[in-house]
Amino acid sequence: MHSMKALGITLIVVIGVGVIAGAITWAVIATREPAPPPPELIDLDWWQHCVLYQIYPRSFKDSDGNGIGDLKGITSQLEHFVEAGVDAMWMSPIFESPMVDFGYDISNFYEIHHEYGTMEDFDNLLRRAHELGIKVLLDFVPNHASNASEYFIKSEAMETGYEDFFVWADALPDPNNASNRLPPSNWVSQFANSAWEWSDVRQQYYLHQFAIEQPDFNFRNPAVKDEMIKIMKFWLDKGVDGFRVDALPYMMEADPADHGGRYPDDPLSGLAEFKPHQLGYTIPLYTKDLIELYDVVYEWREFIDQYQKDKGGETRVIFSEGYANVSMTMLYYGNEDGDIGAHFPFNFDFIRELSDESTARDFAYTVLRWLTYMPAGAVPNWQTGNHDNNRAPSRFRINMVDGLNSLNLLLPGVAVTYQGEEIGMRDGYVSWEDTVDVEALRRGDNETYLLYSRDPCRTPYHWNNSTNAGFSTGNRTWLPVAKDYPEINLAKQKDDARSHFKVYQTLIKLRKEKALSHGEFLIRALSNRTFYLVRYLRTYDTIVLLFNVADASDTIELSRVLKLELPATVVVSSIHSTRVAGDTIDGENLTLEAGEAIVLRAKPVS
Ligand code: FRU
Ligand code: CA
Repeated sequence: MHSMKALGITLIVVIGVGVIAGAITWAVIATREPAPPPPELIDLDWWQHCVLYQIYPRSFKDSDGNGIGDLKGITSQLEHFVEAGVDAMWMSPIFESPMVDFGYDISNFYEIHHEYGTMEDFDNLLRRAHELGIKVLLDFVPNHASNASEYFIKSEAMETGYEDFFVWADALPDPNNASNRLPPSNWVSQFANSAWEWSDVRQQYYLHQFAIEQPDFNFRNPAVKDEMIKIMKFWLDKGVDGFRVDALPYMMEADPADHGGRYPDDPLSGLAEFKPHQLGYTIPLYTKDLIELYDVVYEWREFIDQYQKDKGGETRVIFSEGYANVSMTMLYYGNEDGDIGAHFPFNFDFIRELSDESTARDFAYTVLRWLTYMPAGAVPNWQTGNHDNNRAPSRFRINMVDGLNSLNLLLPGVAVTYQGEEIGMRDGYVSWEDTVDVEALRRGDNETYLLYSRDPCRTPYHWNNSTNAGFSTGNRTWLPVAKDYPEINLAKQKDDARSHFKVYQTLIKLRKEKALSHGEFLIRALSNRTFYLVRYLRTYDTIVLLFNVADASDTIELSRVLKLELPATVVVSSIHSTRVAGDTIDGENLTLEAGEAIVLRAKPVS
């Protein structure tokens, strides 16, 4: 269905050829055009090696003192990205919403949410960002709308053209009680309880894989697919550079036509710790990762590529989001039939596969796993956090901040930063009384909510040590500001001789070197505690990251680091390291303290 040409374009990125050579060779490779020039002479497209920063708008910067971040606030701080060296940003949803799921329940996909500002504020943000050379991506949420959206209201009222906009089904009779009704299947919502909700208006159930207030669109209805294209086109016409696409694994569910006219029950997991209303009670066979959903993604890629052809200008991109196993995740890139999907699916492996218990071997393995499964020539990406998960220093250890940022920024491909990671922000404490996250409120209670709550990673950004960390001048903020802001804030880190922010800035500058943008790489564990990452390319300096991920010191033999020729010079190191930029490393052995990372510059590989 897709021309091979399009993938040919992405094939130009040379990444870790040595290591992924053994990976699946995709049929499309055979169609590759004539031998490419030396790798470092190939211009990368803007997105292929960018630093992508995720803004959570509600918590970034409040411009009017109501305790809620907004678009003007973001615009007022765009220089932060320039100073940091960030190339692109994606914003969690800014569209009209009742805010049940803080913007992931959209009531109007074509309007800006009033607490965040106006369309004019958005236009200003976009213009200013582009003036500063920063690309802007929006969050596109196709799986569901708000139940307050016109789409849903019309569908519930059976208005012509909207009848099948959502997934509606009749109740099942209760064999034990004739006056009772049962939902169409046993499907469980991501936010607990049945994924079906009764509508008194329509006298049918509707599906909601997330909150009750987030009815799932029916992607088997062509009118829904047309509307999605219309939404994307609207924002592309405004000038956005692309989309982060939300919650894709849930986009389609089993078709009753294939199951005797009813929605089939998901199989039971058999796990005793889960009750029927809890996620985990069932295995989402009919509700997640359905193969049909990928065709929709491939169609979107076709649309966006066509848009590109028609309008010209800089490449517009789709970055897809979904927690799925590695094979199903890779299908978002494309398949072996030549269909092409997202420019990349977000890689959540550092979030889901690693923790404070992980060894250096686990780290190396996790990096190689993604690259092994990734289609040849595709662009990888890395990230250690986002708005849905506890912050990296809280999941790992606080002395690993610089090492994690180094790993993220020195690997090939795209580095994603979640707001606050550049200054080592940790989870904020949010009491049960202050909890607002729908997932925590619906899945948890006052004792268990922290297992589910996404509030701790969403507390306001720490700009400085003034009231509310400089986030807001209001008396109250929508989530409490984390208590550690006097110690961990951007202004302080700009002043301090050594800081996470300065390490971050140095790493981004380093990324511009050819060994990092175009080079090959090796990653290996030296012990359970320490691994190394080497980036090298012909005549360019070799860059080596050494990272002790354990909670105890480790002495390593530098002769075991392939491609590293001593002496080497320290470029940057963890702020608690005794080595500083400019130090020479020439010994046979090197002791790294717990959590210590150092980045070395060495002469080109001979
Ligand atoms: C990612 C996410 C969540 C949101 C859900 C539904 O999984 O973006 O933050 O609650 O999708 O839109
Ligand atoms: Ca769905």
